[in-house]
Amino acid sequence: MKHIAVLGSTGSIGTNVLKIVEQFPQLFKIKTLSAAKNIHRLKSQIEQFSPELAVVKEQDDAITLKSMLSKNVSCDILFGEQGYIEAATYSSVHMVISAMVGASGLLPTINAIQAKKDIGLANKETLVMAGDIVMKQVRDNSVQLMPIDSEHSAIFQCLSGQNKSDVAKIYLTASGGPFRNTPSTQFDTISVADALNHPNWTMGKKITIDSATLMNKGLEVIEAKHLFDIPLNQIDVLVHAQSIVHSMVVFKDGSILAQMGVPDMKGAIAYAMSYPKRLPIDQPEPDLLSMQGLTFEQPDVHRFPCLSLAYDASRTGHTMPAVLNAANEVAVEAFLQNQIQFVQIPKLIRSVMDRHVITSNPNLSTILQTDQWARVKAMRLIQML
Ligand SMILES: NC(=O)c1ccc[n+]([C@@H]2O[C@H](COP(=O)([O-])OP(=O)(O)OC[C@H]3O[C@@H](n4cnc5c(N)ncnc54)[C@H](OP(=O)(O)O)[C@@H]3O)[C@@H](O)[C@H]2O)c1
Repeated sequence: MKHIAVLGSTGSIGTNVLKIVEQFPQLFKIKTLSAAKNIHRLKSQIEQFSPELAVVKEQDDAITLKSMLSKNVSCDILFGEQGYIEAATYSSVHMVISAMVGASGLLPTINAIQAKKDIGLANKETLVMAGDIVMKQVRDNSVQLMPIDSEHSAIFQCLSGQNKSDVAKIYLTASGGPFRNTPSTQFDTISVADALNHPNWTMGKKITIDSATLMNKGLEVIEAKHLFDIPLNQIDVLVHAQSIVHSMVVFKDGSILAQMGVPDMKGAIAYAMSYPKRLPIDQPEPDLLSMQGLTFEQPDVHRFPCLSLAYDASRTGHTMPAVLNAANEVAVEAFLQNQIQFVQIPKLIRSVMDRHVITSNPNLSTILQTDQWARVKAMRLIQML
């Protein structure tokens, strides 16, 4: 029986994790859960899965949640950063699913690694911000870091049993998002509703906007570099509108291994949770006969400059990826609040990156300070628009 902590249990990834736990109660037991503000969903999750600890962001919500639970429910309720760390390091937990959104995932995840918990990593921002530090902690603490991002799960599966020295290249596939065929002349009319209307995947708002700008793919490039210890110039992106090939590895003999599946995160999540076994999850195989073909295109970095920004940030390294990440989080939130246009997202990120003076070989506290600096800078630039 594997004891699980789910950080971000009320989100898109978190609820899919719980569906798998529900299907395999003999394999998994939920020990801790966490959310930001959605106390109603968290309450029903507590009632269904009986965790010993649940965490929310604010103290008021913690008090309200406690008062909503019936007296016979025995679950401690904590709040704030220290609460998330408690949930991530809870003594009887074996595996932490890191599925909070954005930079909020970094500290709980790194603390979980230091507490020698295996990690199922959905929160790619953790590796974008502090990939070198996090991967060193993974090695030093001998924990298993399993990717949950479908692309990275695909690469992990394709690399299984292979020699890393035989790898020529990684292809991360991208659906292209809702604006794959939209001419750039129409980009300044893109609304929040348009951008949230992803063609293939149902996800949280932040990653859905990141998919529309292709920043999501940029963040994934940085994530892949750290996870698989592969140089940036060996990681390419291909737009694959059908989202059936989840990613591919090219070997030096010209062979390509690809992993395919329907566009549903349960496959990657279940694989991370049960590795090296595969679970008979309730998921169909892709219907190959009914497909009109699998297509692959070069991404258009002129219409989607966020992808180039991510490559630039990763090439520069040090504190720059943390700046990219923080500026992007602020820009996406401002777009969701109708404070900036879709086309202003990459411009804002570029402006913050241009103003950043890099600190070499940052430690964790420098990364966190840089994150704060970039947020403040991005917010000031928005006010000046
Ligand atoms: N969704 C996908 O298919 C997918 C695929 C690959 C990778 N990922 C990655 O997985 C992570 C989660 O994505 P998602 O789509 O599941 O997001 P989501 O649906 O927005 O859910 C995010 C979860 O994190 C919680 N949360 C949000 N802000 C928080 C904060 N500041 N502090 C603590 N908890 C916070 C939310 O709580 P509330 O519900 O209370 O707001 C919710 O439980 C992201 O890093 C994303 O890039 C997602």
